[in-house]
Amino acid sequence: MLVTGASGLLGNRLVELALQRGHDVISCYKDHAPLLGKPLALDLIHDTEVRKAFSETHPDAVVNTAAMTDVDRCELEPEAAFAANGISVSNLARAAKETNSFIIQVSTDYVFDGEKGNYSEYDETRPINKYGESKLEGERAVMNELDEKTWSIARSSVVYGWGRASRPNAATFVYEKLSRREGIRMVRDQFSSPTFNTSLGTMLIEIAERKLPGILHTSGATRLSRFDFAVGLAKTFELDATLIKAVQARDLHWKAKRPADSSLNVGRAQKLLRESPLNIGSAYEALRREHVDED
Ligand SMILES: NC(=O)c1ccc[n+]([C@@H]2O[C@H](COP(=O)([O-])OP(=O)(O)OC[C@H]3O[C@@H](n4cnc5c(N)ncnc54)[C@H](OP(=O)(O)O)[C@@H]3O)[C@@H](O)[C@H]2O)c1
Repeated sequence: MLVTGASGLLGNRLVELALQRGHDVISCYKDHAPLLGKPLALDLIHDTEVRKAFSETHPDAVVNTAAMTDVDRCELEPEAAFAANGISVSNLARAAKETNSFIIQVSTDYVFDGEKGNYSEYDETRPINKYGESKLEGERAVMNELDEKTWSIARSSVVYGWGRASRPNAATFVYEKLSRREGIRMVRDQFSSPTFNTSLGTMLIEIAERKLPGILHTSGATRLSRFDFAVGLAKTFELDATLIKAVQARDLHWKAKRPADSSLNVGRAQKLLRESPLNIGSAYEALRREHVDED
């Protein structure tokens, strides 16, 4: 299995889980060498390097978790966003075709405009920011380059977990701030389907092992605002939820617009997968267990 973005929040956990399942894992990265798997420095923007890596390793399955994920940075640097999230995926898809590798492209709820919420795989995409547009270009690259039985697009939403200390995510931000008794402001009028990285990693491995084709919504199963997510997390870890102040999205002056409700309908994944999306209560509990294990 070849995992790109192996140094990232999702990729790092995915590699760990794949190794536990006995897979031979090539861990690709750009700037930060991953701790697990066989490390391979590979900037996905360079077509010839990607093809060389594939012809030398002949992966059975590829999971592309690499991306430029900073939504505001994508808005300010659209060329870099389209290179990382669009052109790089074309490069991967062409290389995967040459080696007959099954490819999973990890994508996002931000391909939707957020007007409706509870989006299924059959709903129309209409991104409202550069991150979403560039990720949609990545989805199209996979669909256009490859035969339909050889790819999967796994869309997710607000990924969290015990990731790299230097790069906070929705869970570590809340946990660390509240542990230090610092107040935080969280948005109450924007909804998504927060996704525990371990759960997503497990679903992606199942898709890779069974080579399940098509689009699949592999997020958490519960629609939540960031505020509600933070309050639930505070309760799980017995932290002081009164330190969390509810704000409106318009108070935060983001560079990029955010969809108001990009929550995903996970019905298809629940039917297809043995390891199906977690509801938020089970996800908090699993997050707490992983924390205890790390201590
Ligand atoms: N985080 C979320 O809330 C969220 C929500 C929905 C969907 N997703 C999707 O889930 C996936 C994983 O997200 P994440 O949060 O785990 O990402 P992340 O922590 O930001 O990590 C991104 C990874 O991409 C790698 N990368 C970036 N540009 C690259 C390039 N040109 N060539 C090779 N590698 C490159 C980085 O490598 P280096 O560190 O070595 O530079 C890093 O390993 C992405 O596809 C993202 O769009 C994320």
